[in-house]
Amino acid sequence: MAELSLQHLEKIYDNNVQAVFDFNLDIKDGELIVLVGPSGCGKSTTLRMVAGLEDISRGKLLIDGKDVTNAPAKDRDVAMVFQNYALYGHMTIYENMAFSLTLRKEDPKVIHQKVLAAAEILGLTDQLNKKPSQLSGGQRQRVAMGRSIVRQPKLFLFDEPLSNLDAKLRSATRREILLLHKRLNATMIYVTHDQIEALTLADRIVCMSMGYVQQIGTPLELYDAPANIFVASFIGLPPMNFFDVRVEGEKLVGDRIMLSLTAAEQAALKAYQGKEIILGVRPENAAPGNEFEMKVTSNENLGMNTLVHGHLGSDGKGAKITCKFAGWCDYKVGDVATVSCVKKHFFDKETTNAIKVEG
Ligand SMILES: Nc1ncnc2c1ncn2[C@@H]1O[C@H](COP(=O)(O)OP(=O)(O)OP(=O)(O)O)[C@@H](O)[C@H]1O
Ligand SMILES: [Mg+2]
Repeated sequence: MAELSLQHLEKIYDNNVQAVFDFNLDIKDGELIVLVGPSGCGKSTTLRMVAGLEDISRGKLLIDGKDVTNAPAKDRDVAMVFQNYALYGHMTIYENMAFSLTLRKEDPKVIHQKVLAAAEILGLTDQLNKKPSQLSGGQRQRVAMGRSIVRQPKLFLFDEPLSNLDAKLRSATRREILLLHKRLNATMIYVTHDQIEALTLADRIVCMSMGYVQQIGTPLELYDAPANIFVASFIGLPPMNFFDVRVEGEKLVGDRIMLSLTAAEQAALKAYQGKEIILGVRPENAAPGNEFEMKVTSNENLGMNTLVHGHLGSDGKGAKITCKFAGWCDYKVGDVATVSCVKKHFFDKETTNAIKVEG
């Protein structure tokens, strides 16, 4: 298994596009790291530099303490699973999974054992004699994973392996990847643009934007204490609401919104007295209450809770807001709801960085 150290990694493509800036991360043996961020933020580029499929322009990559910055892909002992898994259509599932070992001329008996073991882990035992065309999308994706498992690599790299699957299969296969990670105890780096995948899979998430790492932390850290407005709006669904407000004594005052600050919040905002900041409120941190009003534009029942959309103010002329209220609500269009805020996030308007509240 593998320990990794990515030190000041940068990628500048031949056309002078810099895709990754100063990427730093130490990965522990057996850790599942998820790189998440919007399209074009440099996730695949980073993964491909680790795999050795892309030159590292600057910086250093260590695997198990060994400098592999310039080592060819085949010497890194990594296996990569892509979004577009190409299985060999004329071969059986068994032959597809055995292929790389057959190429390596391993002992057929050993190959047989490894393929059966991988098939067992992936629930493919009954499919081994079939052809890929006889399998569902999810099963084919598992075969693609099986091909990398049989090689018993030090490190697994996944680049959006589930994005071709429908929502139901995606969540089932996600659970399989988690089980796989537990059973193999393998180090894995997993790339996705889907924040739900990141939250559900990762030991630690690396959130990226425009080539820069924005935050590294556990799923809970990124959800609970996002480092800046980018992370705050990227992680969580529906996304966090943001409002321009001013710090005035013990209050936050904005257009059609005024909130009282706790002692801890006041202490955190001391340097911002009389100044504008950005207030962030997650939809699930809003509850029916008595702090401010919103005029409802739509009410979506989700069973366990209700998404209530609208605009601040009884006249509905303020900023947009989405609340996720517990239980079943029946607001009508034009209703005025009174809302309280269970938890607030604060951001510096200039830097967009979070203003931390202690305790
Ligand atoms: N071979 C290349 N030559 C030049 N520029 C490239 C090359 N590959 C990627 N890029 C650019 O580098 C940036 C990062 O691309 P990358 O593929 O790493 O993004 P990504 O985060 O994986 O996005 P996606 O979610 O769409 O897969 C993009 O601006 C992209 O256009
Ligand atoms: Mg990509």
